[in-house]
Amino acid sequence: MDNNMVALDVGSSKVAVIVAEPGSDGVVKICGLGSAPSAGIRNGVVIDINAAVGSIRAAFDEAERTSGLHISEVYTACEDPRLRFFNNTGATPVRGTEIGQEELDAATEHAGAVALQGDAKVLKMQVLGYSVDGEAGILNPVGMSGKRLEATAHLACGLPTTATNLFRCVRRSGVEVKHWQIPVWAAADAVLTESEKELGVCLIDIGAGTVDVTVYSGNKPWYTDIIPVGGLAVTHDIAALFQLNEEEAERIKLKYGSADPTKFTGADVVDLSDIRRNTRPGDAIEVIAQEKLAEVVQARLEEILSFVKERLQSSKFDQMIPAGIVLTGGVTQTEGFLKLAEDVFEHNCRIGAPDIVASLGGAGNSPAWSVVAGLLKEAAHIEQKGRHSEEKGQKRLRKGFFSTIKHWFIGNY
Ligand SMILES: Nc1ncnc2c1ncn2[C@@H]1O[C@H](COP(=O)(O)OP(=O)(O)OP(=O)(O)O)[C@@H](O)[C@H]1O
Ligand SMILES: [Mg+2]
Repeated sequence: MDNNMVALDVGSSKVAVIVAEPGSDGVVKICGLGSAPSAGIRNGVVIDINAAVGSIRAAFDEAERTSGLHISEVYTACEDPRLRFFNNTGATPVRGTEIGQEELDAATEHAGAVALQGDAKVLKMQVLGYSVDGEAGILNPVGMSGKRLEATAHLACGLPTTATNLFRCVRRSGVEVKHWQIPVWAAADAVLTESEKELGVCLIDIGAGTVDVTVYSGNKPWYTDIIPVGGLAVTHDIAALFQLNEEEAERIKLKYGSADPTKFTGADVVDLSDIRRNTRPGDAIEVIAQEKLAEVVQARLEEILSFVKERLQSSKFDQMIPAGIVLTGGVTQTEGFLKLAEDVFEHNCRIGAPDIVASLGGAGNSPAWSVVAGLLKEAAHIEQKGRHSEEKGQKRLRKGFFSTIKHWFIGNY
């Protein structure tokens, strides 16, 4: 696939793929999108490999068709509500008069060295900063003087099998995984502004099966949380209350759902024959009140948001978000969602959607595509860095080649 970049997000409700190629000015050019309803994934975790492979392959097929390119490797995201995120500090004494790269590496390594239960491992690590002799907030201590260097890192810990099961699905669909990321960190790249990330902001991605939360400050993630609940819970409530199957409840939610019951009067009703594919004789309910439907949607979403708020408050990282709360993910498209979030959090909130695929319009610009858009941004960044170091390497090679010739000349003549 040469220079092309492919991002893949395997969510609980849909698989999303973006194919892009590097543009002339460092801006990526989107070549194609692919999506498919996801199967075999529950709350972010693979529960049926064959079903998951089928939906991943279907999304790849569409992306290959729309882009006209063959997909051979991807940047993807992977999570599991069982992942544990926490911050850890590692220290090292400074031997000489000045902190060197060696000490920086040692402190960073110690920050990532934590004792974990069973087979759990540190899967991802983001260095938050350094402190020298107790002076915190140092970004690059190399060259400074001091006696003791400390590094603090945000760690994602869990069983490697979560990632390997997803990679296995991708590989079985004929594609290699080049790099993976924690989904909400990828989404942060797509929907948060640089100043929000610097100042302090909370990002909440509400998908079908998980709510992912992260707090950025000083451009780094200080807090991450994955809660195994999402829009599917709203669908289940609608199905249970109005005696519908899951498919019907999902359709009714998408078409008529709202998080604001005050918008409706008793006269606003939804005709179920519009939703039911096959009207069954003896179906008890033929119409439902939109006000009642909105009450169900509002109640569940309010419960989810209140739960996130409670966890954020007890973590104390709610103190670090002067730039407010950004909400993304498919559920944020619910009518009246933003007002509900503002009421629950009592903080400034906005809905975040990616603009990276603006050129193609359609689904790619929805908040449900934040993770895959962020993965593409990360891919572009990594590939560009790779190209730079390749170019540097080439220059070094050329320099090496000329100096070798010079030596050969000097040596022989
Ligand atoms: N207009 C809408 N109104 C209400 N809910 C919506 C709307 N559009 C999408 N949703 C809900 O959003 C959810 C899908 O969001 P998203 O695509 O972000 O999830 P996902 O990435 O597949 O899942 P996850 O991130 O949890 O693994 C579904 O529950 C869907 O019903
Ligand atoms: Mg998602």
